[in-house]
Amino acid sequence: MSTSSDISSLFKLFGGRSANYQEISQEDEKQSSMERWPGVAKVELSGVAAEPAVLTPSGAAVRPALFAAVAPVSPAIAPESAPSPEAVPQAKAVAAPYAAPDWASESLHSLLGKLAQEDRREVVNAPVRVTRPRPNLANIKIIAVISAKGGVGKSTLAAGLSAVMQRQGRAVLALDLDPQSALINHLGVAIDPMQVAAEGIAHCVADAQMRDFCQPTPSGVFVLPYGLVDEGQRRTFERQLEDEPDWLAQQLSELQLADGSVVVLDTPPGPSAYLQQALSVANVAVVVSLADAASYATLPMIDRLLSTYTADRADFYGATYVINQVDQSRKLSKDITQIMRGILGSRVAGIIHRDQSIAEALAYNQSVLDYDPSGQGCHDLQAIALNVLAKLFATQRSEQLA
Ligand SMILES: Nc1ncnc2c1ncn2[C@@H]1O[C@H](COP(=O)(O)OP(=O)(O)O)[C@@H](O)[C@H]1O
Ligand SMILES: [Mg+2]
Repeated sequence: MSTSSDISSLFKLFGGRSANYQEISQEDEKQSSMERWPGVAKVELSGVAAEPAVLTPSGAAVRPALFAAVAPVSPAIAPESAPSPEAVPQAKAVAAPYAAPDWASESLHSLLGKLAQEDRREVVNAPVRVTRPRPNLANIKIIAVISAKGGVGKSTLAAGLSAVMQRQGRAVLALDLDPQSALINHLGVAIDPMQVAAEGIAHCVADAQMRDFCQPTPSGVFVLPYGLVDEGQRRTFERQLEDEPDWLAQQLSELQLADGSVVVLDTPPGPSAYLQQALSVANVAVVVSLADAASYATLPMIDRLLSTYTADRADFYGATYVINQVDQSRKLSKDITQIMRGILGSRVAGIIHRDQSIAEALAYNQSVLDYDPSGQGCHDLQAIALNVLAKLFATQRSEQLA
């Protein structure tokens, strides 16, 4: 069954008509996104493993150091003589038992023709890949905040998670991988956030290091803004991300963050080189969705992206879902929340009610934790952050026990 027919039956179930809801036409947005990233559009749908519920951790330390005190000297990039990860399966293939070739099925002439074509394709298309071992990021925890649609509350949640986790005693780096460069606005930087965000990760081309652009914020959370760049610089940065799929992993490793630090990655909506980078390092993906038909319709797409970029990685603990801007006074919002909870079960980290204080905090460049500490939005954010923390560190505990 297609997603939109799924949604139509959902509307029928509740006595509504899907044609009246414009959100369903957001499929077009998804389509254009897929066209921008055709490689990603080819990925197959598959489910995400359920995660067990976990306990709430208790934090203690205040303002922990973000960077490790003693900098190890080992370079992240291995010497050229080190075997590349690709070399290992190739060596195994050579040692595999001999299988008789199928001589008769095609003429030598046509096989030679194909070979010549493949040779040409290789010369033209082979991407320049830097082969190096995957860096070890086991001493830190990484959260990717993702969604298929824009404007669903990713930056709000990324900033909220960062602030709560910092208050729980974690050293936190909030890293903005979205060219909108809006994360800084949610972090309570009162004096000209745009000035603070002028330089950021998008300036990390060639020799520039991420460490140069990490900045403290009043809450104690460190922020690495995206940075203000022109179109040419943005394209150069994105090309770098496409050419080096492990770029972010290498950069995070070179940051030498203190043990137990948390990195929260804010991402742009839909498939992109940023999302690929984020999902290839994340221990947990927090999928943000609104309680509306359009967001519901995009969940299979998120599943595809998750399975494409996190499969085969033992240090990916799973995806957890946040339903944002839930409005209990609207029947549709309540019904879709209930349906999503039913489908996702324990994978829902929590819901965030629609709360005017969240929007107002942004307008006043304040963290919602400071702007309205006793409000519903603040309460919801805290509960979700503790849930995600528990998922991250409980998994670590069970790994250590194993
Ligand atoms: N629970 C909420 N209640 C009210 N407003 C919200 C809520 N969550 C987010 N918003 C508002 O929605 C807008 C979009 O949020 P944002 O975090 O920028 O989305 P995204 O990063 O996904 O594009 C912002 O104006 C934000 O203040
Ligand atoms: Mg955003």
